[in-house]
Formats: sequence, C-alpha cells, structure tokens
Amino acid sequence: MRNRFKDKIVIVTGAGSGIGQRTAERFSEEGAQVVIAELDKNTGKQVEKKINNNNGKAIFIETDVAEYNSVQEMVKNTVKEFGSPDILINNAGINVFSEPLKMSESEWKRAFSVDLDGVWNGCKAVLPHMLEKAKGSIVNISSVHGFQIIPNCFPYPVAKHGVIGLTRALAVDYASKGIKINCISPGYTDTPILERFFSTKPDPEKARKEAEFRQPIRRMGTTTEIANTILFMSSDECNYMIGANIVVDGGITLKIHENDDTGAN
Ligand SMILES: NC(=O)c1ccc[n+]([C@@H]2O[C@H](COP(=O)([O-])OP(=O)(O)OC[C@H]3O[C@@H](n4cnc5c(N)ncnc54)[C@H](O)[C@@H]3O)[C@@H](O)[C@H]2O)c1
Repeated sequence: MRNRFKDKIVIVTGAGSGIGQRTAERFSEEGAQVVIAELDKNTGKQVEKKINNNNGKAIFIETDVAEYNSVQEMVKNTVKEFGSPDILINNAGINVFSEPLKMSESEWKRAFSVDLDGVWNGCKAVLPHMLEKAKGSIVNISSVHGFQIIPNCFPYPVAKHGVIGLTRALAVDYASKGIKINCISPGYTDTPILERFFSTKPDPEKARKEAEFRQPIRRMGTTTEIANTILFMSSDECNYMIGANIVVDGGITLKIHENDDTGAN
C-alpha cells in the first residue's frame, strides 16, 4: 500500500457501484478519507461498510447529483465530518440510449440532469472550498461516447461530449488558482451499467463476445484499471495536466472500421 493520498479528503459521486466503488476503495487503500456520494442508500452503505471494515475511513452521504441542493448539502456535510475537500471525482452517470425522434422529453432531461448537470453541480459545490486553499483536483468521467458516436445511443453521447467541454472550460478558468480539472474517457468497462446494456440485446452473451472481439485488446477493461488512472490524474504526480482527456479504452477508438468478422461464436 502506498500513501499517495494520506489524509486527503476525497468525494466520489456514484461510488455505490462499478467504477465509482472501485475508485473509492483504491483511494482508501492509498490513505484517503472517502465520501461515498451516492443516490442508492443500500449500495452506498455497503461500500462505506466494506471500506471501514478494511481499516479505511469512509462515510456514505445520500446524494442526488442531479439536484444542486443535494450536492451542496453533501459538500457541507463532508466539511463537517472530514474537512474541506481536496479531490472530487464526478463519476455518477446513467445510460439513456434512444433513437432521437422516439425519445421522450423526460428522457432527454433525465440524461442531461445526471450526466452533465450532475458534473457541473459537483464542480460548483466544491470549487469555493478549493479556491479558499488555492489547491484542488477534479476528475470528471466522460466516455468514449464523449468524442465518438455509436448509433442509437442518443442523447448519452451529447451529454458526454458536454462533460469534456465543461472540463476544458473550467480547467482554463481555474488553473492559475491552483486547481486542476481533468477528464477520463473509459471504453467498455466491466460494471453493472454494461451488464444492463448487454441485457437489452436479443442474445446478451453473443453481444458481449462480439464487443470483446472488437477491442484491439480483446477484452473489457476492469474497474481497477479505470480507478488507477483516476488516482493518477487526481495526484500531485500530474500537476502540469490541465483540461486533459485521458482515453482508457483498450484501443477501440483508434480503429476506423469495426471488423466484419467479429470472431464471436
Ligand atoms: N462501464 C462502462 O463501460 C463505462 C464506459 C464509459 C463511461 N462510463 C461512465 O462511468 C461512470 C460510472 O459508470 P459505471 O459503469 O460504474 O456504472 P454503474 O451503474 O455501475 O454505477 C453508477 C453509479 O452512479 C449512481 N447514480 C446514478 N444516478 C445518480 C445520481 N443522480 N446521483 C448520485 N448517484 C447516482 C448509481 O446508483 C450507481 O451506483 C458513468 O459516468 C458512466 O457513464 C462507464
């Protein structure tokens, strides 16, 4: 165990599952005090318990990132319980995939309220605290959908493009004030969100195999692989990195064409 984040106060949104959970665990393994800012009480409490049982220091704070008041309250409680936040990981996200003209107005709003407003709400709530100490690090989670388009996934990619834009805009405004803001774009990562995506296909197992074969690396990413990149981007090891978007995707977005021969059987 390294102590890269000893006594740092880290907020991870959506830390009750998948990438967020593993990120919270990895921060704790490296000495941080972690806030599980999660909508789902059950999973949020489970992750809190798991980290504390492993000699970590975590608290679950029920949070809806789509509601600014809820995020502001979570940051207020973080300051009360642990102190002023050093690092924010805006990870909470949902898949809203539709054909544009078949999508309801409420689906459009739901996608943007979590996937884009949620990221802004987090930044807006922690920035005053980071400005006060002239130091802080924010990592936003976009996606390969943030700069590439997969058909029939509307409007998720629109919101994820927005996350990269938001990251770049805020990064420039706050770099001179000691705050670094960056972004990571994961490719297919083995989490419940991906499981739910494959379960919408007529043959989920075949869809998964085909997706694995399309990756130059021939497999999905693990949550640990994504979390490790998030930790690096949050750390003082990369203080010259401002407004960057690191792509961690097994090479999938390097390809122009997908193979006709999927190799799946
Ligand atoms: N898994 C992938 O292949 C993949 C790829 C690219 C990007 N991402 C992005 O990574 C992030 C994490 O995804 P994951 O795969 O771990 O998903 P996941 O569904 O396993 O976890 C997402 C978590 O966010 C929480 N959440 C949802 N809405 C929330 C809200 N309004 N407020 C607070 N918490 C909320 C959920 O309860 C859940 O615990 C998302 O932003 C997702 O878009 C995932």
